[in-house]
Order: sequence, then C-alpha cells, then structure tokens
Amino acid sequence: MTDDLRAPIGTHDVLSPDSALWEGVIGTFADLANRYDFGLVLSPMFEDVAVFHRGIGEASEVATKEMYVFTDRGDRTYALRPEGTASVVRAFVQHHPVTPWRAWYVTPAFRYERPQAGRYRQHHQLGVEALGSDDAQVDVEVIALAQRFYAAIGLRRVRLLVNSMGHDVCRGEYVGLLRAHLSARRDDLCDDHRATWDRNPLRVLDCKKPACVAVTDDGPMLPDHLCDACRDHLGLVTRGLDRLGIAWERAPRLVRGFDYYTRTTFEFVSDALDAAQNAIGGGGRYDQLAAALGGPDVSGVGFGSGIERLLLARAAEGVTEALIERGPDCFVVDTTGGEEATVLADELRRLGVAVSRAVDGRSMKAQMKLADRSGARVAVLVGPQELAAGEVTMRDLRASESTQWRVARGGVADAVRTVLEGHE
Ligand code: HAM
Repeated sequence: MTDDLRAPIGTHDVLSPDSALWEGVIGTFADLANRYDFGLVLSPMFEDVAVFHRGIGEASEVATKEMYVFTDRGDRTYALRPEGTASVVRAFVQHHPVTPWRAWYVTPAFRYERPQAGRYRQHHQLGVEALGSDDAQVDVEVIALAQRFYAAIGLRRVRLLVNSMGHDVCRGEYVGLLRAHLSARRDDLCDDHRATWDRNPLRVLDCKKPACVAVTDDGPMLPDHLCDACRDHLGLVTRGLDRLGIAWERAPRLVRGFDYYTRTTFEFVSDALDAAQNAIGGGGRYDQLAAALGGPDVSGVGFGSGIERLLLARAAEGVTEALIERGPDCFVVDTTGGEEATVLADELRRLGVAVSRAVDGRSMKAQMKLADRSGARVAVLVGPQELAAGEVTMRDLRASESTQWRVARGGVADAVRTVLEGHE
C-alpha cells in the first residue's frame, strides 16, 4: 500500500482480537454508568465551531492550535469535536431534558497534536456529565465512578489529584495576583512562557520546566485564594472522597486546559506511564457552561477518560485479565458442500453458541486446521457418511488426545452444550 492510503498520522485501526479489550472496557463502563444512574447520549462528531469556541474557550490551546476546523459545501464552519463536554452540554441546552440530567458517552475526539505513544490525533473517550446541580455530592459521585471504573478494569497504580479553580470572581482576583508575581519574575520563566505568560498566566502553573516551577513555587497558589463558598465546596468534595475511602492528593498546580472549569477539577494519573501522557482521565465542574452556550443557568460536573491511555496503563501494569470473552465456542466442519454447515451454525447460533465455520469447499484437513486455530472448544463434523446416517461427529478440541464420538443430528445442540459446560 502506498503511504498516502495508510491511516492518517496519529490515528490507528483496532482489529480483532485486540478490539475485544475495547469491548470489555466500554462494556464495563456502560454497566457502571448505569449503576450510577447515567443514560447513554449520542451527539454529532462535528459541531458549529462556536460551540467549542464558547465552550472550551476561543483562546485555549486546543481551540487555537489543535482543532480540526473545516467549511462544508454549504459554507458553514464546523469543528470535529476535540472533546465531549461542550457537545453534550450543547445537546442539553437544545433539548432541555428534566434536571438533574445524567449522561454518559463514548466518542472519538480529534486534536491536532504531535503524535506519540498515548497521544493521538483521533483518540477515544469515555465520559459522563451530570447537569442540574451544584451539590458537592455530585462531584463525589462522578469521581467515585471514575475511580471504581479504573479498579474494575484492573488498574492499581492510579493516583487522584484534586484542585479547585474557584469561580469567576475569586479566580479573577487570584489571576491578578499571579500576573503581578509573574510580571516581576518574567525574565526567569522558560522560553515559551516568557513570551506568553501575560495572555494566560494560569498555564505557567502547569509548566513542568524547572525555570517555571521555580518561579511559581514561591508565588500565590489558587487554593489559598478561594472565596469561602468555593473553599467550602472543595472541603465537602474531599470529605466525601474520604468517606468513600478514595485516596486523593491536593494538586494546587492542576489547571486544566479548558476555560469552562469552575470549582472542582481533578485528574487521575497512572504511575505506570511516562509523565508526558500519564493522565488517564480528568474532569471537573463547569457551572457556567450551559449559560455560555445560550442555555439556562445550570451547573454541571463530569469527567472523560482516554481509552487508548487506559489500555496503555493496563499493559504497563501487566494486567492481562480479558474483561470479556470473544471468539467461537464451536467450529462446524462440513465436507458435503457447505449448506449443512450453514444450517447447523444457524441452529447453534440461535441457541446462543458462538460458531465459526469454513467456506469455499475446503478439504477436511484444511477445515480441521482452521478449527484448531480458531480457539473453539468443540467441533461438529458433517461428512457424506454422517449426512447419510442422520448424525454428526463431535470432537473435543481441548482434549489432550483426539476424542470424538457420533451423535444424532437432532442431539447436536445438547452435545455441544455438554462439552462447553464441561470446559467452564
Ligand atoms: P481532557 O483532560 O482534555 O478532558 O481529556 C480527557 C482524557 O482524554 C485525558 O485524561 C486523556 O486520558 C485522554 N486524551 C486527551 N487527549 C488525548 C490524546 N491526544 N490522545 C490520547 N488520549 C487523549 C476533556 O476532554 C474533558 N471533556 C473532560 C471532562 C468531562 N471534563 C468535564 N467533563
């Protein structure tokens, strides 16, 4: 294949059997989301670019440098969704469902980033959004769902970082203090931030370069400048986490990349991954987002998790548990032309058995080879003799020695079940 026809840089295909892990992770999340009372929401992969400009912030790094923006044939300017929250809240505003409204989603997200392990131009997120309440107990439930999810898929080396972004007034005051501090020390900042600190001083807090860390280390930190209401909210969230036995750490430097965040912000990091992409999930509260998208003054909180990162973290931790089983239980071998296999397979599939079979009139030997390779536990063989006698030959593919026996055609389903149950 020529290079131009390969999947675009920063994207990837997932084929079976690897995709079984994706099914397992998504299925685990869907079950948990249901347990926590979230319903599935589906919304378009692209939106009017204004949804993201007003949602994540026109000046945010994702909006300015990473968004896939295009004009369609009707001259409308759209963007591929770089994340899920703004679209889900846009759907909430458009359809005004009864609140509290709790939605979960699984979606691709597109960001023009420099591709590397764990950082893609199309990645996939699982997430939830809860709209309609500013009760700190909702923050606790959302964080608990994330934590329980990571545990359910086998992750152990995960830490939860918690911060508060305050609300517009107390954060505004804090940004003023930070700006004054950075202005006095601007010559000591890293090369990038020496040029950009004034535009978005909060980003300097997030910079990992020693120069910026040294400057911000002795500067003001947001949690020390929260108003009483925001401080109380943070206290309720951390107390709630303690009551659930969920370990957390204060992270005063945690400023997430989107403008919509207010109050609680959090991130889950995997200690099994490199620091550059160790965030396996993150989220927080966004009490002004619905209003920014033209909706009512309704608060919200949620989180999103990158599926690729979760799988990388599982691999790095050496978690091998499959989550779900995929692949055939039974392989039907037919040397009478193939029609019998179609009938037998249909009968078994309707009874819930996963069946594989060969086509193209292959030889007995070729079909048996496929059966062995398929991972099926039992084979059902139909040849001319079996057909004439109204029987089939059963073969236990997991038995150490070739074990086979004949059963009446009408007894196939029971015989298959008996073998499968014996292997459970
Ligand atoms: P985010 O932190 O930008 O938040 O992304 C959520 C997660 O998606 C990250 O923690 C990471 O696991 C994964 N992720 C992000 N970018 C990439 C990438 N380029 N390649 C691979 N994985 C990536 C949000 O998107 C918010 N919408 C989360 C949220 C929901 N906040 C409130 N509700």
